[in-house]
Amino acid sequence: MTTQTIRFLQRGAVREIGDAPATRTVLQHLREDALCTGTKEGCAEGDCGACTAVIGELDASGALALKAVNACIQFLPTLDSRALFTVEDLRGADGALHPVQQALVDCHGSQCGFCTPGFVMSLWALYHQHPRDAGPPSRDEIAAALSGNLCRCTGYRPIVDAGQRMFEYPRPPFDADAITQQLTALKRAQTFEYHASDSSGPHTFHAPVTRAEFARLRAAHPNARLLAGSTDVGLWVTKQFRDLGDVLYIGNVDELKTIERDAQTLTIGAAASLEDAYAALAADYPELAELWTRFASRPIRNAGTLGGNVANGSPIGDSMPALIALNAELVLQKADKTRTMRLDAFYLGYQKTALDAGEFVAAIRVPRPVAALRFRTYKVSKRYDQDISAVCAAFAIRLDESHRVTDARIAFGGMAATPKRAAQAEAALIGHEWNEATARTAMAALDADFQPLTDMRASSAYRAKVARNVLWRFYLETRPDAPLALAEVNAFAYGAHVEDAP
Ligand SMILES: Cc1cc2nc3c(=O)[nH]c(=O)nc-3n(C[C@H](O)[C@H](O)[C@H](O)COP(=O)(O)OP(=O)(O)OC[C@H]3O[C@@H](n4cnc5c(N)ncnc54)[C@H](O)[C@@H]3O)c2cc1C
Ligand code: FES
Ligand code: FES
Repeated sequence: MTTQTIRFLQRGAVREIGDAPATRTVLQHLREDALCTGTKEGCAEGDCGACTAVIGELDASGALALKAVNACIQFLPTLDSRALFTVEDLRGADGALHPVQQALVDCHGSQCGFCTPGFVMSLWALYHQHPRDAGPPSRDEIAAALSGNLCRCTGYRPIVDAGQRMFEYPRPPFDADAITQQLTALKRAQTFEYHASDSSGPHTFHAPVTRAEFARLRAAHPNARLLAGSTDVGLWVTKQFRDLGDVLYIGNVDELKTIERDAQTLTIGAAASLEDAYAALAADYPELAELWTRFASRPIRNAGTLGGNVANGSPIGDSMPALIALNAELVLQKADKTRTMRLDAFYLGYQKTALDAGEFVAAIRVPRPVAALRFRTYKVSKRYDQDISAVCAAFAIRLDESHRVTDARIAFGGMAATPKRAAQAEAALIGHEWNEATARTAMAALDADFQPLTDMRASSAYRAKVARNVLWRFYLETRPDAPLALAEVNAFAYGAHVEDAP
């Protein structure tokens, strides 16, 4: 079967590829086919940032958006209609280093250099995203942009220095308008179909551009692997060497990336990136700011979607406890029919959801904040950045005027085979005054709610204890008489620490 070719922009020219397996990664293509070996491979699972490249794509308004991603877990056909930038593309026509590169040299931000191309690309994305008239970004902003880049020999201080210094050099030309025009010309009006073979035979990569066509293809090919940001699925290929078979890609359907608000509901399209989704969630619920920045890293959040996190249904996924505590519901779609389902009813067992064959998650609907809601999430993991939770908890309660709990929703990840509500602990709260005795009763009730597993992240006993302790912490932060302010309980987030020591 003849195939359409993957068409993407690189160095101002349109590249076309028609003979690579659909699961060939962008990194494999760069290093082995295009011989652009500046981009490195460290972990091949999105963790180290050595492979960081920047993708240029048109946002909903038709403007150019530049996003750092992990090339090691992005598949080549997802580049179609996009632009790819790597560390080789940054030097000026006269051979001069880009300010990002020059600043790293001048600040001694590189030793063995293996991680450096990845840092350069994350900083290059920041260089273009940061408003020109806003002065240099803060060290916090730079650290957030570099949360997906590991360096094992230089140390981060000089690298962050370079992030601040990079704006001091003359700005090299960058013709965003020309790239936008080229991308507009490349944009497809109809489904992109890429046919290729791998070791299990010939397969099709379908990339529709409308929701209706996506839904039709999903119903017509229920066994095709739905692919979103590839931050889970990519690892099935690079680490588990699985064949994906036919693939249905959601990433070109702008209608499924929209984020809308009305008086009652925040509606997040399933294909909205985690970064965009959390920005919207944190605008309504500032209590989610820490979870947002601690969810993986910026490149993973640029690629990964909220719909993918919810649909993957990992028991240790970070979004579900918060969304369940906030009483979110899902919009599920099959062909042209939609239904809604509360998120806490969606998980039926370990990695088993209520999705029918041919159905998909179209949107996540989150109630807007209500008065007097006391809401917190706690992610407990071994590292602050870029780590998977041992336990992730979310608590949402409302009190009446006499401080009695009128409503309680508590959800945990890492404590059971699915993200799960703590029904006994909730029952121990409702109708009781929010005081120390009530909190301690609810802590004890958690033992009846969960019998957590021991695995490489944490022992069962540790998880059970942490669950009780975060409930206690929630009480300390939200007690009616002397609540602790957010900034008092977290020295890392909310600008609570001193930024630039003299
Ligand atoms: C380095 C690294 C760090 C990570 N850190 C975290 C973390 O801190 N917290 C956390 O929770 N997760 C983390 N993850 C996991 C992952 O990033 C998230 O689960 C992410 O939200 C997955 O979204 P995606 O769009 O990449 O999904 P994909 O990988 O494309 O798909 C995941 C699954 O969901 C299905 N799917 C996707 N979209 C839909 C839809 N709309 N309808 C139905 N099915 C769908 C796919 O078929 C697949 O089965 C991490 C992953 C990596 C590689
Ligand atoms: S090679 Fe480590 S993140 Fe890609
Ligand atoms: S310079 Fe060696 S790993 Fe960063």
